[in-house]
Amino acid sequence: MKNLTEGNITDAVLKAIDGTKDARAKEVMSSLIRHLHAFVKDVQLTQDEWEGAIEYLYDTGQITGPTRNEFILTSDTLGISSLVDIINSNPDGGTEASVLGPFYIEGSKMVEIGTNLIGDSEGEPTVVSGIVRTLGGDPIEGAIIDVWQTAANGLYENQDPEQPENNLRCKMLTNKDGYYEFTTIKPVSYKVPTDGPVGRMLDLQGRHAWRPSHLHYKVSADGHRNLITEVFCEEDEYIEEDAVFGVRKSLAVPYKKISSEEEAKKYGISSPFYRVEFDFELETL
Ligand code: BEZ
Ligand code: FE
Repeated sequence: MKNLTEGNITDAVLKAIDGTKDARAKEVMSSLIRHLHAFVKDVQLTQDEWEGAIEYLYDTGQITGPTRNEFILTSDTLGISSLVDIINSNPDGGTEASVLGPFYIEGSKMVEIGTNLIGDSEGEPTVVSGIVRTLGGDPIEGAIIDVWQTAANGLYENQDPEQPENNLRCKMLTNKDGYYEFTTIKPVSYKVPTDGPVGRMLDLQGRHAWRPSHLHYKVSADGHRNLITEVFCEEDEYIEEDAVFGVRKSLAVPYKKISSEEEAKKYGISSPFYRVEFDFELETL
């Protein structure tokens, strides 16, 4: 009988999974085992620390449900979700992807170009517009822009029973020029949920939970790769220290303050208001 030691246990586990039929599964699991074993050896993990890790996973499972996924939030706050986005986005260029986040809802209402989403929401009026194009620069007609954001209190409609259904979220089709436009409130920076294991982890690491203000987008068009991304306000105080590492330089844009009452009237709002323009480039499939 072979004696298992710190020096040979990794090979023993790798040998045990040698029969894995799916080649990709074997590659991924072998690498995971090698890296986890190397990590445990590197830090010489103690029994208490191992128990702490198991407790973290247990608590993460307990708090996770249909409307909250603490596993994803763990991945987000450790930069794993963004690393996967970076590895898998842009083989041929195009707008960079960013995290979906847990607050997306399918089936938002479809509205006309130019719709005002503000309703009873408090906040600074903002006109958002842009063009959806191919990588070659041709406008895409009929692309679906699906957008969602928080209210001024930093909560998404589906986190906050006080907000009406569908508040500050919509879908819209681009016109023949690839153009989209809507009026909303200026997004605010907000904290990711800290009342679960992720909050404990952030505390332990001496980190804050803030995300810089952003609009979430899902952009899709026939024959093109779906894009999930975010557009950030470049002047936001947290732009360099997003708790979930979603910011990319190309996704951070200025919010231009406009004081003209005449301009504001065109959008049925009052001045001052903000204008933000962002064009999307979709890869062809
Ligand atoms: C969000 O932007 O909605 C979000 C992203 C990752 C974790 C939590 C929230
Ligand atoms: Fe968000």
